[in-house]
Amino acid sequence: MSLFRKKSIPDLIKTTQQGRTLRKELNAWDLTLLGIGAIIGTGIFVLTGEGALKAGPGLILSFVVAGLACAFAALSYAEFASTVPVSGSVYTYSYAIMGEFWAWIIGWDLILEYLLAVSAVSAGWSGYFQSLLEGFGIHLPTVLTAAPGAVPGKTTLFNLPAFLIVMLLTFLLARGIRESKRANNVMVVLKVAVVLAFIFVGVWYVKPAHWQPFTPFGWDGIFNAAALVFFAYLGFDAVSTAAEETRNPGRDLPRGILYSLGICTLLYVVVSGILTGIVRYPEFKGYEDRPVALALQTVGQNWFAGFISLGAILGMTTVMLVMLYGQTRVIFAMSRDGLLPRGFSTVHEKFRTPFGATWISGTVAALIGALVPLGDIAELVNMGTLAAFVMISIAVIILRKTQPDLPRAFRCPAVPWIPLLAILFCVLLLAHLPLITWIRFAIWLAIGFAIYFTYSRKRSSLNTQSTIHLDQ
Ligand code: ALA
Repeated sequence: MSLFRKKSIPDLIKTTQQGRTLRKELNAWDLTLLGIGAIIGTGIFVLTGEGALKAGPGLILSFVVAGLACAFAALSYAEFASTVPVSGSVYTYSYAIMGEFWAWIIGWDLILEYLLAVSAVSAGWSGYFQSLLEGFGIHLPTVLTAAPGAVPGKTTLFNLPAFLIVMLLTFLLARGIRESKRANNVMVVLKVAVVLAFIFVGVWYVKPAHWQPFTPFGWDGIFNAAALVFFAYLGFDAVSTAAEETRNPGRDLPRGILYSLGICTLLYVVVSGILTGIVRYPEFKGYEDRPVALALQTVGQNWFAGFISLGAILGMTTVMLVMLYGQTRVIFAMSRDGLLPRGFSTVHEKFRTPFGATWISGTVAALIGALVPLGDIAELVNMGTLAAFVMISIAVIILRKTQPDLPRAFRCPAVPWIPLLAILFCVLLLAHLPLITWIRFAIWLAIGFAIYFTYSRKRSSLNTQSTIHLDQ
């Protein structure tokens, strides 16, 4: 049983055509909206405050740096998604190129990214939702407002709004890709409208003097902030998990990935410029969790700050929806390959969704969000994602060498340079993550190894197939 046994790409594609299949429903426009759905959320509405404190107005450059890391990686994602249109994203690509052990690590890593992103965003969503309710004079009992130990000096037991929103989204995803797509598209259009409204209102209040000094903490500050606001970009990779539900994946997946990332990068750079132009960066202290609202209150636009909260709520809702979606498709693919219990890859007869994977992942994500105080979890999610980006960039270089003639509907330009740049940027960002994040990540991987060696390796469907491709 080689650790590095591989699946062949034609076999992978064949797997998607056997048995009950997922419904093919998505086109380039849907995928772009799916990408924007997963991207714009906590990162821009919440993390920009802390980012500005780390980098000053140079936060604009932090967004450019993080955006470049993502853009380089996105080109590799686009190549793979168009070549191997199979659920499971980079997990599946690694299975074909680097073998089962690496695929397991990366799948395990993607679970960390998507699962924790959903739970972390659900806690942020709950905070915004509660302030909205309070605006209407409705107060929840304190014990039901946050996870145990999440708020110093308060007895909290369960984050009820966080739990309920994730369960609601799980229900929606289990019902069908068509329903989920419609809900996502409407919410994305609304949240982009809110971000544009902020830009058009805010731009008039910018004082260029606030951009001086532009980089008070130097490049170190810029990279520290970039390692944090990288979170704002997460999600475009989730588009590639939609491969089996896309009508023309070779053409539309690269478009969905690159368009959504391009649009969001532009919006982020402009929004961070406006934010730091309205509020002098040290004044974000104490308002780290609501930088956009602070900017609007500073210029007396209080009513508009309420409107922004609505945008944030919608934004975070679609982030959770798409991240949860990505999570279920990765688990679905891993289970279909035998690496996770088979119950995760059942497809519902009527809804044609991975029913088991959806309900189990949704419930776990909802419980973590409701019961675990997630504080600075964004950086751990970033670490998981950066690791996945490094893997996919390596995989593109390897595949060009080992299978140069494989049909590729989209080709990443300037290989190996673009993937190497992606690796360089990701490593730079990884180096700026705190030590505690590295330790947490190592613990997560150790749990993954234990599961692989005690369970997955023996149950892998490659044990029973004749299509084993051993590493030479
Ligand atoms: N990009 C997503 C957000 O910022 C994860 O919430």
